[in-house]
Amino acid sequence: MTPLVQLGPLAVAPSRPVPQSGPMADGFGRRIEYLRISVTDKCNLRCVYCMPEEGLPWMKREQILRYEEIAEVVRVMADLGLRRIRLTGGEPLVRRDLSSLVRMIRAVPGIDDVALSTNAVLLADQADALRDAGVDRVNVSLDSLRPERIDAISRRPGSAEAIFRGLKAAERAGFGPIKVNCVVMRGRNDDEVADFAAVTRERPWHVRFIEVMPTGDNLGVQADEFVSADEMLERVGQTGDLRPVAGPGGNGPARYFAFPGAAGTVGVITPMSHNYCERCNRMRLTADGQLRPCLFGHLQTNLRDPLRRGEPLEPLIRHTLAVKPERHWLEHGTAAGSGGLRALSEVGG
Ligand code: 5AD
Ligand code: SF4
Repeated sequence: MTPLVQLGPLAVAPSRPVPQSGPMADGFGRRIEYLRISVTDKCNLRCVYCMPEEGLPWMKREQILRYEEIAEVVRVMADLGLRRIRLTGGEPLVRRDLSSLVRMIRAVPGIDDVALSTNAVLLADQADALRDAGVDRVNVSLDSLRPERIDAISRRPGSAEAIFRGLKAAERAGFGPIKVNCVVMRGRNDDEVADFAAVTRERPWHVRFIEVMPTGDNLGVQADEFVSADEMLERVGQTGDLRPVAGPGGNGPARYFAFPGAAGTVGVITPMSHNYCERCNRMRLTADGQLRPCLFGHLQTNLRDPLRRGEPLEPLIRHTLAVKPERHWLEHGTAAGSGGLRALSEVGG
């Protein structure tokens, strides 16, 4: 295993001056108001672009932040201007009673948006409880519209049926807008981009096609099956008059398009072919309490141990902002740019 590089409580990296009081901003003047929180590194699927079939060496229970500890980090950061939260994993719904965490986060003054990223396998049973607890929006990973392909990509036969039930439950529970994330791979699902786009004519889905990114465990898939967003858009464009649109709220990295009169939109997320880092508004908290300024690279600050010792977190948060890199440097077929990440499930996708 290539562990995430641990640099002690303070990551050592080129540091830039940042405001030491008031709303969080990094050394490039970007306001940070969004935190993605991974609540577990475990998952009930084994998507081919994410994890090996046998899984990964999972974090131990005592390493993982308890819900009360996560809520405390959110309280500290909300005082510093944090406004929006996304819960992710691994697969967040495999962690017990996620609704209770949602309720704790909802109760934090300043937090006005709580979203969830899920593979939807367990969503049918939990959608209403999550909605009641205060989840505003869900993103569902769905890499194919064809059950046998979903089963093959996720390496968990039978998952497709549960996922489709989960999607229906999400629509019924009133989560909106529903964003559907599709990682496009040549020979596995790239012939479906037009089918996905066609769905948006009738249903209010916001389908986002994602370029596959390299991690330690997917280099073969990434090198051999990469499809650029330009190619995806060209294929979809052949089936109708696709125009740029503003897209559904949130200011994430996606660029959106729509067919005239369509209920939904088609988006692309282009970590490889276009850089969107200049608009970055986020940091990440791993399940074991490491604050990461960037999805990629080795930088992370240990908040868990200082939190457990009762030490103040604000200086550590400001330091992490000061080392937030200007951009990522991903390269095809090499894990180097991701700083030895084995899988996005280790840090929250
Ligand atoms: N490249 C691109 N997307 C990925 N995801 C997970 N691993 C990768 C990767 N290597 C996606 C998941 C999910 C989102 C959070 O990240 O499919 O939709
Ligand atoms: Fe699980 Fe998401 Fe990774 Fe698939 S991509 S194995 S659903 S964490």
